[in-house]
Amino acid sequence: MAKLKIARLGNPVLRQIAQPVNLKELNDPDGDLQVLINDMVETMRTDGGVGLAAPQVSRSIQLVILECEENKRYPEAEGIPLTVLINPRITRYSDETAMGWESCLSLIDFRGLVRRSREVTVTAFNQEGEEMVIEATGFLAIVLQHEIDHLNGKVFLDRMEDLTQLAYMEEFETYWAEKE
Ligand code: NI
Repeated sequence: MAKLKIARLGNPVLRQIAQPVNLKELNDPDGDLQVLINDMVETMRTDGGVGLAAPQVSRSIQLVILECEENKRYPEAEGIPLTVLINPRITRYSDETAMGWESCLSLIDFRGLVRRSREVTVTAFNQEGEEMVIEATGFLAIVLQHEIDHLNGKVFLDRMEDLTQLAYMEEFETYWAEKE
């Protein structure tokens, strides 16, 4: 496995609409797509992300990975097992929304307050090419909306209602964290 370079804000690849993956490409265990998935997992773990979309490693295809270990510092953030989503679609958004602080490996060091649906339903294919349906709430619902946005050329900044609620990580800890 190899760690990949993260595309940061300003790189046009983050603003492209990602192309669907041809599921037949999954059949080759040594093929380009399986290698990319493994490299994305290593990159996400090395950089401490909870999700990574292929455009963030300069591949404009509809592929997202997620993983979050349970963390004693953030007991409210439930763990997410390693999940590979290919050609994901959000098929339902709850009307009910909530504000939450988000960060992104492509906007490293920033945090911003974003409104998202509390629940979403996502259909996608897994690494074996099997279709799956995810009914997500809470933290998982936020991560899914954030990552699937990357496939549509969007970053969390685009979803912010008030840019005064954008902060560097250090200033977030100093001035905002306790208000939550
Ligand atoms: Ni992101």
